[in-house]
Parts: sequence; C-alpha cells; structure tokens
Amino acid sequence: METLQQHAIFKNELLEKIHNHTAKVGIIGLGYVGLPLAVEAASAGYQILGVENNPDRCRLINEGKNYIKDVHDTKFLGLVREHKIQASVGFETLQACDIVVICVPTPLNKNKEPDISYIKNATDGICKNFHPGMLIILESTTYPGTTEEIIQARLEEMGHKLGKDFFLAFSPERVDPGNKSFNTANTTKIVGGVSSDCLELSEAFYLSFVAHVVRMSSPRAAEMTKVFENIYRSVNIALVNELAMLCERMDIDVYEVITAAATKPYGFQAFWPGPGVGGHCIPLDPYYLAWKGKEYDLHARFIELAGEINENMPRVVLAKVGEILNQFSKPVKGAKILQLGISYKKDIDDARESPSVRIYELLSQKGANVEVVDPFVKQFWTREHDFTYGNQGPSIPTIPLSDEKLQEADIVIITTDHTDFPYADIVKKAKVVFDTRNAAGFRKIESSKIFKLSTRVSQNH
Ligand SMILES: NC(=O)c1ccc[n+]([C@@H]2O[C@H](COP(=O)([O-])OP(=O)(O)OC[C@H]3O[C@@H](n4cnc5c(N)ncnc54)[C@H](O)[C@@H]3O)[C@@H](O)[C@H]2O)c1
Repeated sequence: METLQQHAIFKNELLEKIHNHTAKVGIIGLGYVGLPLAVEAASAGYQILGVENNPDRCRLINEGKNYIKDVHDTKFLGLVREHKIQASVGFETLQACDIVVICVPTPLNKNKEPDISYIKNATDGICKNFHPGMLIILESTTYPGTTEEIIQARLEEMGHKLGKDFFLAFSPERVDPGNKSFNTANTTKIVGGVSSDCLELSEAFYLSFVAHVVRMSSPRAAEMTKVFENIYRSVNIALVNELAMLCERMDIDVYEVITAAATKPYGFQAFWPGPGVGGHCIPLDPYYLAWKGKEYDLHARFIELAGEINENMPRVVLAKVGEILNQFSKPVKGAKILQLGISYKKDIDDARESPSVRIYELLSQKGANVEVVDPFVKQFWTREHDFTYGNQGPSIPTIPLSDEKLQEADIVIITTDHTDFPYADIVKKAKVVFDTRNAAGFRKIESSKIFKLSTRVSQNH
C-alpha cells in the first residue's frame, strides 16, 4: 500500500515537472540522435545534462560548438549560453536527472550479431547514479525485448523495482539525417511503456516538444516497429538492386522501368538501385531482428537475403568498373579513379558503413589510385582503421573537385549523389562516368560516356 502510494507520488511529481517543463533531462550519447533531441527538449525549456563519453564532443558542446549538421548552430549556441545544455563524460550528472534518455550506438560485432554493450554500459551508469522516481527511456534501435530483458532486468538486479521506484519505456528515434522537411520535432514519435504509468509519463514528455505521439501496447511492439521500418527499406532496396542486375543482362534500363512503375497511383512505392546501403541503420538493424528470430526458431531468410544482396553491391560496382576500364584497354591496377561522394547518402556528412567507403577499399585493394571528392566529408576511415564510435586510425582526406582531376581520371565514379555536384560539367569533362546512382539520368543529362548499374558494358562502346 505504502509502495503504491509512493509510486503515485513519484508519477504525479514527474508529471508536474513535465507539464511545467522543469524536469531535468539526462541524455546519454550526444550523436546524430542525442544532440538534436537535446536541442528540441532544451528549446521547450528543459535543462539537459548530457553524458557523452567522447571528451572532444563534450568539450565542443560546452563551448557551444555544434558538430551535427541537422542541428542549427546559433540555436545550439544560444541554448548552451543559457546553460540549457551541458555535457560531461561521467555518469554522475544523472543523479540530478528526473528523466534519462539513452541514445548510444547499437552496432554489430564482427559476426553480425547485435552489440548491445553500449546499452548495458549506459544502464550500469544509470544504476550507479539512480534515484527513485526516475523515468528511463531507450531510444537506440535494437531487437524486440531489449528494454525489458536488459534494462529492466539490470535495474531490478540492483534492487530497484518497476512499479515501485522507476519508470521505463522505449521510444525509437526515426530521424532521417539531411531531410529538410522532417526533423525530431515534427516526426511522429512511437512510445511503448513497460506499464501504463511508464507510457503516460513518456508520452507526456515527448508531447511537450514533439508534434505527434503514437501509444504502443508495449516496448517490444515499439522495438519491433522500428526495426520493421528499416527492414522494409532494406528489402525493397535489395529487390531493386537485384532487378538492376537482371536488367543489365537483359539490356533494359532499370531506371526507366521503376519510373514507369511509379506512375501507378496505388500499390507501388519507388525504391532506387545503388551501390549498396549505409549509415547506422539500414545495414545493421535487420540483423538485430534476424538474430532475435533464432531464439524463436525462426530463420529470417528474407531479411538476411536482403542484407546479402545489398552488401554485395560494392563488389558489383567493382566488377563493373573493371569491365568499363577494359573497354579502354585499362586494368584496374594503376588506373586513376576519381570517386565522387563518400557519405552513405546525399547531402550529409556521415560516412559510417557507407558503401562508398567499401568501394574505395575494394578498388584500392586491386591497386587502383583512388581519390575521393566529398564537400560534406573532410576525411574518412577504411574499415581497417575505423573504430566506428571514436575513429582513431589514420584517415583518408577528401579532395576538392577540379577540372584537372576530372580530366586526368581514367574513370569518374559517382557513388553519392550530392545535390550540388555539377553533373553536366562532370560528364562533359570526364573521359567516362560510372553513375551508380543515376544522378545524371535523373537530371536528364545523357551521354554515351555515362554507364549506369543496368548498362550493358559490351554494347556501349
Ligand atoms: N543516425 C541515425 O540516422 C539514426 C536514426 C534513427 C535511430 N538511430 C539509432 O540511434 C542510436 C544512436 O545512433 P547515432 O547515429 O546517434 O550514433 P552516434 O555514434 O552519432 O552517437 C552516439 C554517441 O554516443 C556516445 N557514446 C557511446 N557510448 C557511450 C556511453 N557509454 N556513454 C556516453 N556516451 C556514449 C558516442 O561517443 C556518440 O557520440 C543507434 O541505436 C541508432 O541505430 C540512428
């Protein structure tokens, strides 16, 4: 009875702090997800006490220097100056927090199994600095079950009890980096609480700075929704990548086919083939679900097949570069190659898991002299030197685009279709262009110098 009363007091106190935006919010992990969230919540009036284990990032935050492209520099600086956002490396700061949101990475290990060590580490940090009445929300993408099986279980091992002294929910981040129309504030949030009180509190929290919230029946359903969204993309991209390979053999322009199919007003959504998938979501998240499925005797063949096709695309690109150069009696070894774009998609600065990096590696391993142009990315790391969450090995610098580089390259490969690349000029000046994204084609630039994924090389020259 006493416990229930105490729980109700915690809930009402937190609801009140949420309603008048005085709750202190701890955010663990201030990267592509955590920092924009910090800015939105701070703009609504909350005080953000960030925990970021990269000391360089911590310093930048406290100096008001923004490092995430989707975050507005002056808005961020203003919030830091008002002491609405601050960061520290240690977890002790969480002692002062009413709400703690976990936004740490969820990568795969070398065997493509979920690496949830970051979530466990964050949970341990919370446990050590726990106080009764905390609301804990997991935002990192993960397999269904993580919130309860890992976070709730760890907190309860430490003697804390859900329904007694803490609240717990899962609410995935669904941001699309670089998207000019949708951001943290206007993208519908999904929330699944472990109990109805957990749901009520986390819904109230997000509704105080996000336009729409969808209530889910459980954290597991919310976790499943997030991975399903990304699997939907992975599978559809794999399908069109396979179609591109078939179209090449049948000498059909895959882009013409998809463009025509997209005129159907119902039952079809266009996805486009390309050099593979990248970023911290599409290449990883499907494997989280496939791994979990095995616990239930379900081998998610469809999901894994899509991953396999997408992962193989850089090798498809490599093979085609060899075929194109062969037309000009050039081996890949020693060829001068200019690669345009290294980020995993257009107009962003994120090269994590980028298929363009994989293409760079494969071409370099074959002895090509590859240089990379990317106005968004100053330097990047190959897998050998990429410790992903804190790059430490030697990096490869990108170079500016120049007429000289375009003209001297044996082949120019468009691997990322940044909006501001001067495509007409590129095609005009280059000897030959392999356009893995159909960037020129979508701009109605046509030339016999352009090879697409579905172009049959032997018949072109
Ligand atoms: N990037 C996206 O577009 C995107 C979109 C939706 C969901 N997600 C998911 O959100 C989560 C975070 O992704 P991200 O892209 O923001 O990653 P990120 O690498 O950009 O940011 C994570 C941050 O957490 C920090 N960190 C790691 N361990 C920590 C610890 N123990 N304590 C404190 N800080 C720690 C890292 O230094 C880094 O700054 C992942 O699960 C990802 O799948 C990402």
